[in-house]
Amino acid sequence: MDTLSLPRHVAIIMDGNGRWAQRRGRERFYGHVRGAARVKEVVEAASEAGIEAVTLFAFSTENWSRPERELGVLWKLLEHYLKKELQTLQKNNIRLKAVGEIDRLPAAHRELVKKSIKLLENNTGLLLTFALSYGSRSEIVDAARRLAASCVQGEVEISAVDEKLFESYLWTHSADGLSDVDLVIRTSGEYRISNFLLWQSAYAEYYFTNTCWPDFGPDEFQHALKIYASRERRFGGVREKWDPKAKLQANPNPRLPALQV
Ligand code: FPP
Repeated sequence: MDTLSLPRHVAIIMDGNGRWAQRRGRERFYGHVRGAARVKEVVEAASEAGIEAVTLFAFSTENWSRPERELGVLWKLLEHYLKKELQTLQKNNIRLKAVGEIDRLPAAHRELVKKSIKLLENNTGLLLTFALSYGSRSEIVDAARRLAASCVQGEVEISAVDEKLFESYLWTHSADGLSDVDLVIRTSGEYRISNFLLWQSAYAEYYFTNTCWPDFGPDEFQHALKIYASRERRFGGVREKWDPKAKLQANPNPRLPALQV
């Protein structure tokens, strides 16, 4: 795939872990365990493909209402991933970031996240962001509050406030301009954005699939990239030229429906 048709930033709503486990007569947390294994595979596939940023919705602000036991499993899986994968992340030149109310995390996990980010901070490859206790509206309100404080303190002129400046106050802001999302993937047959990266995905393409996250592997990730490459992004403009003959593309994954463009 040429680099022009490759998304720079892919954001993933890893949904369906609980249903996946329950359909197999297992407890919900078993789906999270299998889902965590998919995180490793998909991050590696993204890094190999040359994608610059991947943001994973690992825990929403609403997820705090889940039973204590399930929360414990989720934090344990994050810990396991960061401890076990650190060397591989380092080897693959991957940078780490976390967005969300990180201070609400259990102290040990919060410190582990911070330590891991520090250890990988000099890398120059893929930016892997975990959204943890994340809600997009909270992020936007927090940005607005801090920007207002900057205005009140005289650091910023109100007339200087534009989209670019506002974006620099978001938790996802990155010096290399990777805040905007190009492709959002949501698994498990749900067609919602669920308060995830609302500002950042204003012009994103969406890939929804019935596959539950524990079954979403590198093959379907590649398929999503192919779908993305087949889309024409106009950002509100008009298309240059339309070729009515360019109707069907070869199906990159025979398990999935043929790609109609
Ligand atoms: C949604 O499925 C998934 C989550 C709330 C958590 C996602 C977490 C992981 C994939 C594992 C974490 C691992 C790392 C390395 C961060 P759901 O439980 O809401 O599924 P359901 O909609 O079927 O109930």
